[in-house]
Amino acid sequence: MTTPPVCDYEGSDYQTSFWEQGGRAYEDQAEEIALKRLLPKSGRLLLELGAGAGRNSPRYTGYERIILLDYSRTQLQQARQRLGNSPRYTYVAADIYKLPFIDGLFDGATMIRTLHHMADAPKALGQVRRALAPGATFILEFANKLNLKAILRYWLKKQDWDPFSLEPVEFAALNFDFHPESIRRWLSALDFSIAKTLSVSHFRVSLLKRNLPPGLLATLDGWLQPTGAFLQVSPSIFVKSSVRRDDIPPHDTPSNLREWFQCPECATHPLRDMDTHLDCPQCGRKWAFHDGIYDFREAMKE
Ligand SMILES: C[S@@+](CC[C@H](N)C(=O)[O-])C[C@H]1O[C@@H](n2cnc3c(N)ncnc32)[C@H](O)[C@@H]1O
Repeated sequence: MTTPPVCDYEGSDYQTSFWEQGGRAYEDQAEEIALKRLLPKSGRLLLELGAGAGRNSPRYTGYERIILLDYSRTQLQQARQRLGNSPRYTYVAADIYKLPFIDGLFDGATMIRTLHHMADAPKALGQVRRALAPGATFILEFANKLNLKAILRYWLKKQDWDPFSLEPVEFAALNFDFHPESIRRWLSALDFSIAKTLSVSHFRVSLLKRNLPPGLLATLDGWLQPTGAFLQVSPSIFVKSSVRRDDIPPHDTPSNLREWFQCPECATHPLRDMDTHLDCPQCGRKWAFHDGIYDFREAMKE
């Protein structure tokens, strides 16, 4: 199965350099406020897509279990160090374009700061939709090409790409900004219905961030976030949607976690549980489990 290229975070110090030492306390707190507003009070099984080092994972307090999925093993190792070995968290290295889960497994999913690495966003969203149960909640954050700075730069002729056009813009290799209308269309085509839209990070301006405390900026941002319902010109947008067709009852989740997986290459399930790895009875591929991480990126070598 051919899939689009992946933006590889293997070995990256993203959590430290971007968040902890990168002057982004304001953005982090603004996202926490947005998530609090959007997350359901309770849930069973949440899939965190592009979980990175688990910055947001402790925020999903209402869910019983969380699967952290990321392509990078080292990001997941960092997440595991931060969050520990609690059965609440399961770590899965896999490509979002080939999710290794059975259909309709999750009643919740989040995808924060990850869609912006997707060269084929509708394909990635299609995989998310497949893994979600009827009525499941999906919280998606995306980078907004229709942001105020891009609009002004375009009008002042300092930027060639048009923030008003619907196609994504790749502003750096494998980094994309999206038009909010495109996101709405893709979600709707996949049978999601949008419940809430928040605009986030209104004050991502160095002069303000240098001179005002992050907590104050985040509080002000929180007040402005609901304006996203009718105007989306901030750099980051959060959309809460749910899977339509709630007339179909969700199926029972297999009690054994290992029965949640399917082969990412040929979609066969259940996989044979061989303790240190999972075997696909159809294509014969073997998928490793080591250091607490299920690895579905590349099959084990014989
Ligand atoms: C910018 S980081 C965001 C991490 C986390 N969501 C956060 O907000 O702190 C993007 C993450 O997406 C992951 N990623 C990118 N492409 C992916 C793919 N095709 N499949 C799975 N993970 C992917 C990267 O490995 C990285 O950890």
